[in-house]
Amino acid sequence: MCGIVGYVGDNKSLEVLLGGLKRLEYRGYDSAGVAVIGEDGTMDTRKRAGKLQVLLDDLETRPIANGATGIGHTRWATHGGPTDRNAHPHLGADGKLALIHNGIIENFSELKQELLDSGATFSSETDTEVAAILVGREYEQTHDLTESLRRVVARLEGAFTLLVMHADQPGIVVGARRNSPLVIGLGDGENFLGSDVAAFVEFTRRAVAIGQDQIVTIRPDSVVVTDFEGAPVETEEFEIAWDASASEKGGWSSFMAKEISEEPEAVANTILGRVHDGLVDLKELEPLGDLKDIDRIVIIACGTAAYAGMLGKYAIEQWSRIPVDVELSHEFRYRNPILTERTLVISISQSGETMDTLMAVKYAVDHKAKVLSVCNTQGATIPRESHAVVYTHAGPEVAVASTKAFLAQVTALYLIGLELGKLRGTLADDEIRENVRELQAVPEKIAEILSVSQAEIAQLAHWMTDTQSVLFLGRNVGYPVALEGALKLKELAYIHAEGFAAGELKHGPIALIEPGQVVFVVVPSPRDPNSLHPKVVSNIQEIRARGARVIAIAEKGDAAVLPFADEVIPIPLAGSLFEPFLAVVPLHIFGMELSSAKGLDVDQPRNLAKSVTVE
Ligand code: AGP
Repeated sequence: MCGIVGYVGDNKSLEVLLGGLKRLEYRGYDSAGVAVIGEDGTMDTRKRAGKLQVLLDDLETRPIANGATGIGHTRWATHGGPTDRNAHPHLGADGKLALIHNGIIENFSELKQELLDSGATFSSETDTEVAAILVGREYEQTHDLTESLRRVVARLEGAFTLLVMHADQPGIVVGARRNSPLVIGLGDGENFLGSDVAAFVEFTRRAVAIGQDQIVTIRPDSVVVTDFEGAPVETEEFEIAWDASASEKGGWSSFMAKEISEEPEAVANTILGRVHDGLVDLKELEPLGDLKDIDRIVIIACGTAAYAGMLGKYAIEQWSRIPVDVELSHEFRYRNPILTERTLVISISQSGETMDTLMAVKYAVDHKAKVLSVCNTQGATIPRESHAVVYTHAGPEVAVASTKAFLAQVTALYLIGLELGKLRGTLADDEIRENVRELQAVPEKIAEILSVSQAEIAQLAHWMTDTQSVLFLGRNVGYPVALEGALKLKELAYIHAEGFAAGELKHGPIALIEPGQVVFVVVPSPRDPNSLHPKVVSNIQEIRARGARVIAIAEKGDAAVLPFADEVIPIPLAGSLFEPFLAVVPLHIFGMELSSAKGLDVDQPRNLAKSVTVE
């Protein structure tokens, strides 16, 4: 997620902006930039791809004037790769207005075309520059920065936090937010804006959160907040509870805790801009050409990404009626697989640099398959080697154990499945709309789990610090969830953990069950007439009869499970294909909590790397 800092006050903008961006580094980014209005009224901008140090070194060798008004930004690339030109701030046509942005402007293409038709020129591929040009044009009419921004945000769709300033109006920074965060820092003779309080916590602990569809104008001695129509709004000041040192992770105890908290946003942002009039509209598949003649899909990935692929298999087969195989990238590549022009290979990778998957993608391209990548990192190698890419918008994932990216990958695969169903006519529009509604309801349901169950799961984990082995059972779409839960425990708590298809128990694994053996069971909804619920409940009875300690993840109100489970972790109701989004969240939390209860390094587990760039 991008980092944003704004400042008005003393002649120290550069210190505030660069210090704030440093504290926002935890948010992950791939470029950074600042703009400052100097005492002589000139505005200087400097922006560089790469880490903040690249910008700092550049400013060392080519200093810019300090000043009392400034904005700063760290960018996580969404539209346009991580380059100097795509870095923020972006400028208005006359170079006197600077703008920074966090989020996704869904309708930027049509706005950009409108500007191009009227002679505007662009220096970047970003949606942000469209907003900068638009606000600059309004400013030429109004000479009022707040009014100019207000007029533009009324035309924007999507998620955005915008900050603007103009060389002709030193001492003023204006911000607007919709669906992306923005907070105000209140100083004495100075005021701040930030994507979170980490941006200014070293300067002030007095803060005010800005609500949805609100605009804020800060001056050294005043802060004015209105709604998008210009009406004043009530604001409430709060005290920042943690100190600057905790701000490396935005106040979270670990990156993993922060990233689990972002799971709702990761799903919502991956959907954003890809649904119109209730139907999926996935333009990213267009480079693949005609998909009607695809007769087979092969999903290739490693680790957690492969489990996302297994969930994608169920949905894509259900909606497109194309047979789907899921293969581990490192196995696929060396087994001389059968590929034709009618094969669609879908690779899944958070980092986009996993060598096993990259080599498998190259193999598939060389063997004439159509290759689509699902990736969370703009401009990474795997998307560049593929024919098309659907980016997940989970934001940067720093913790080695993948959480929010997994959910974003499943979201992207479900969107692909619905798009294929639409293109091939195997889904009627009302069926697509119904599934889109289910998908759009997922973020709120995940948020409910995070708010209700986190403490209970932490307590469960603290009880299990001496446990040496944990099994996970699931059927159908619950099976990939069981595999993912087991992998988290291996990675995070260094415990032998194994996921099984519940039906496989009696074919061997049930021999592992002895008194006290902990078994997590992912229980399907009992509401679905074809549900495997009765079979899973009898699996629970089988292992309980042999002394297992059963922790069931089951739908709220599922009374049939209660008599047979030692613990039940409730999840909200959802359609069968959508239950995995919810059932996996307690397993992510459990893995993290058990790791921290054992005093292990939650974010950097032993022997592991975030991106495995060797085969
Ligand atoms: C997941 O928690 C692990 N860190 C690991 O299995 C990971 O999913 C795998 O290495 C694939 O990484 P990628 O998504 O970046 O390709």
